[in-house]
Amino acid sequence: MNHQSDIRFDGQAVIITGAGAGLGRAYALLFAERGAKVLVNDLGGDVHGLGDGHGPADQVVREIVAAGGTAVANYDSVATPQGGKAIVAAALQHFGRVDVLVHNAGILRDKSFPKLAPADIRDVMDVHLNAAFWVGQPAFEAMKEQEYGRIVFTSSSSGLFGNFGQANYGAAKTGLIGLMRVLSIEGARYGIRVNCVAPAARTRMTEELLGPLTERLDPGHVAPLVAYLGSSQCDLTSEIYSAGGGRFARVFLGLAPGWYSPGDPVAPEAIAQHISTIRNTDGFKIPQTGMDEIEIVLEAFGMKPGGN
Ligand code: NAI
Repeated sequence: MNHQSDIRFDGQAVIITGAGAGLGRAYALLFAERGAKVLVNDLGGDVHGLGDGHGPADQVVREIVAAGGTAVANYDSVATPQGGKAIVAAALQHFGRVDVLVHNAGILRDKSFPKLAPADIRDVMDVHLNAAFWVGQPAFEAMKEQEYGRIVFTSSSSGLFGNFGQANYGAAKTGLIGLMRVLSIEGARYGIRVNCVAPAARTRMTEELLGPLTERLDPGHVAPLVAYLGSSQCDLTSEIYSAGGGRFARVFLGLAPGWYSPGDPVAPEAIAQHISTIRNTDGFKIPQTGMDEIEIVLEAFGMKPGGN
């Protein structure tokens, strides 16, 4: 029997990119278990983005169907505008709607900054960041028409906090934060909510990286957060959550109170003199939008918006 608080996706269609393995597979299984019709997208290449194949997406669809769920495989690449359109068109063709988009597909081309070839930069940007536009635009269109939608992008600690050898990946993963911010604002009036997950899990992408943590970090540990962010119960938007091994925590960008010097521009030496006040995070605020930041600044200037 369903309780009022049960998180269910009956009658809803969910697109998960890169759902043929790792985290995406875990998300697909959970959404399907909770009643969603799932479009299991996966190009089926290797961790560096080379090659393709139907095997991974087909396998996950078989698992879902065997468990009594509904799923359709799709093998288009997220990395091109045509691919993005085809993925959303497949969901609309099979399910007639798109309620949730989880953009999870990813590849790695790790090299120290001077060694990154243009293709290492372009390909990683294409799969992580540009793909969020290619799949996101047609999905957003469908959600706007329905006046309902949930979008979850996949960020990473490598971008939010940095990691050696991942300049391309880190920049792409943090670019998604900017996209999330703006889509949260543009989608608000259409019932579209957009959030980011920064996961940690044992997958082929991380098998050599996690060391002693490996055992604890099942992809299934991240899936409940993504299901929650994808559900109608979640009205949050423009937020970032770290998840792994059963630990869930908000990541946020705060604005410190800062130092204010009215009048003429100060000398650089004044910055040096006040840098500890400028850096001090005590009493920080978390702006929800760029306009929020302006209001905070106006307050600091003693000029309340709309006031005199
Ligand atoms: P994974 O390699 O197991 O899964 C990624 C999937 O994306 C693969 O099945 C792959 O075939 C698919 N894919 C790659 N390029 C594609 C394309 N152009 N079109 C469609 N599908 C494509 O890796 P994992 O770990 O499950 O990663 C999932 C997401 O989580 C990625 O965005 C990754 O960057 C991110 N992430 C993972 C972390 C972890 O600890 N595993 C840490 C931080 C972020």
